[in-house]
Amino acid sequence: METSQQVESTVSSNQTLSLFNYKNSLMKTAIANIPTDNKTTPFYKNVNVAIHNSDCIDFLKNLPSESVDLIVTDPAYSGMNNKLNFGNGRIVGNYQKADNDKWFLEFKDNTSNFLSFLFECYRVLRNNRHIYIMFDSYSLLSLGSLMREVFNVKNIIIWDKVNIGMGHYFRRRHELIMFATKGSRKLNARNFPDIWSEKRIHRGVYPTQKPVEIFDRMIQASSEKGFVICDPFVGSGSSIVSSLKNGCTFIGSDLSKKACEISSERAKYFIKTGEDAYQ
Ligand SMILES: C[S@@+](CC[C@H](N)C(=O)[O-])C[C@H]1O[C@@H](n2cnc3c(N)ncnc32)[C@H](O)[C@@H]1O
Repeated sequence: METSQQVESTVSSNQTLSLFNYKNSLMKTAIANIPTDNKTTPFYKNVNVAIHNSDCIDFLKNLPSESVDLIVTDPAYSGMNNKLNFGNGRIVGNYQKADNDKWFLEFKDNTSNFLSFLFECYRVLRNNRHIYIMFDSYSLLSLGSLMREVFNVKNIIIWDKVNIGMGHYFRRRHELIMFATKGSRKLNARNFPDIWSEKRIHRGVYPTQKPVEIFDRMIQASSEKGFVICDPFVGSGSSIVSSLKNGCTFIGSDLSKKACEISSERAKYFIKTGEDAYQ
């Protein structure tokens, strides 16, 4: 697979094309393979991107079997907030106050719901493909093992956020990303480490907005140009920007209308300018 450095050097040797036009031309070759969901109307659709304002399981159920090439996702787990006591026994911050419109909806991550989600992911993923699911420490303990009932789990990657975060018993600096396969498929290179150091996003447009670079690492390790990338918990759309940057198309969903508005605007702006307005 071509790395972004290789893309840049190819571009610099071809003075007639701007970087954006070059990337855009790659996008155009990749188009037209987003699976069609005939039952629901997307909140936003472009030739390269479709975003559905929908529950993740409903969204996946409406996709044809074996229609996406890579799943990269960052679910909104409720476990961490509901069940863990941090130090003095309250939730850090005021995230769950009803009037906090910055916070988002949580996925009902009980065992049966999470398994239904995983089975749908398995059904829509093509054979010999990869999946990456992000977990916090609590969800990894409560739900992570279910991944092994559905996929071939290959590794757990640590995202090192470089700077220390919240927490009382050892302040959090990492999140976890479970990497698994459906069938067998190699990574695009053999020298990727399993600790990824990328600074967290401070004051993003969306709570828990993830760096595009985290999705870049997944997509660059596990995709080819023209792959259909799927993220059923799209949030601010960092996975969309990464998909487009890497010459892939995107289909995803979010239960929150606000997330769909933000991610659609972000996708539109990126498609128009080649720039990411939100990071
Ligand atoms: C952790 S955030 C994703 C953040 C995203 N990766 C980003 O970089 O901005 C999880 C998202 O899942 C959405 N969500 C919660 N429950 C959902 C459900 N049942 N189906 C689909 N999306 C859901 C939330 O609205 C939230 O936007």
